[in-house]
Amino acid sequence: MPSIKLTLGIESSCDETAAAVYGGNPPGFVEKVARQFDIHSPYGGVVPELASRCHLEAVSMLVTETCKEAGADLNDISLVAATAGPGLAGALVVGLTYGKSLAFALKKPFVAVNHVEAHMYAACAESKIDFPFVALVVSGGHTLLVDVKNEFEYEILGRTRDDAAGEAFDKGAKILGLPYPGGVSIEETGKTGNAAAYDFPRALKEKKSLDFSFSGLKTSLLYFNQKNPDAPIEDVCASYQQAIVDVLVRKSVFAAQKLNRKTIVLGGGVVANKKLREDMNSVAKKKGIKVVLPSFNLCTDNARMIAYRGTILYE
Ligand code: KG4
Ligand code: ZN
Repeated sequence: MPSIKLTLGIESSCDETAAAVYGGNPPGFVEKVARQFDIHSPYGGVVPELASRCHLEAVSMLVTETCKEAGADLNDISLVAATAGPGLAGALVVGLTYGKSLAFALKKPFVAVNHVEAHMYAACAESKIDFPFVALVVSGGHTLLVDVKNEFEYEILGRTRDDAAGEAFDKGAKILGLPYPGGVSIEETGKTGNAAAYDFPRALKEKKSLDFSFSGLKTSLLYFNQKNPDAPIEDVCASYQQAIVDVLVRKSVFAAQKLNRKTIVLGGGVVANKKLREDMNSVAKKKGIKVVLPSFNLCTDNARMIAYRGTILYE
């Protein structure tokens, strides 16, 4: 098997088109991302058909520019990896087909990468983390607690029974008339707010359950907003964010304690949230548990995690 010198990663599962080149000694990344916020913003969420068209327009140029910035010719690429799912079918097919075709044309190997697994292992791309660890994966489509035993084996401990954590942010923002993506706008608006102003529900509080539920929280925000249209929006956002963060932190720490794991690793777009990062760190630290947080550009959808995971899987 030829050794992997440079991996090209491609991501197009939702509303970010991204290409990354991974390799070198010590290994590093060059990445380019095309975001579609402005395209979807008027609709308050991602419109799949528009997302696919934007990926089609962006992918080839992004790959060319990323390779150029990495100082690599396409022929220097030794492996191509692309997101194969889960995600929007019409969006996924763009990056996946492009990646496969490119690998075929270059006569190089191709690896299909699971997007959620890539989020779960993303932090490993920039720091050496000892296995086993508990992973919290929180994105727009998933909320998972996972016991990660090694690079290839893991067991799902708990998941959301309804909305994902990112969805709770996105739908909450929509209720409050804030722009998409909701996580960013709720965090921004709540920055100066009082997180203890309103007591939104924390579902499945009992310690024994490692599952999550956020749909009741979203409904309670809807009723609250109808009854209290003049409540200061900063306080509402800060309190709503706190309700989501509290549950994520409490359950992650409990899972680590239950399994006697010394490390919690976070992944997914919601990990860009500063309050989640701060609270997870401070609560876990008190229990003697280490927290590993990926850099911001490894949290939201990106091609670095795809290139990294593809390399590990291939090797
Ligand atoms: O991982 P990701 O980029 O895409 C999916 O795989 O779904 O996650 C997107 C989610 C969205 O729901 C978005 O609102 C949320 O991550 N998000 C945030 C923040 N930035 C993005 N949630 C809370 N705070 C943020 N700063
Ligand atoms: Zn994602």
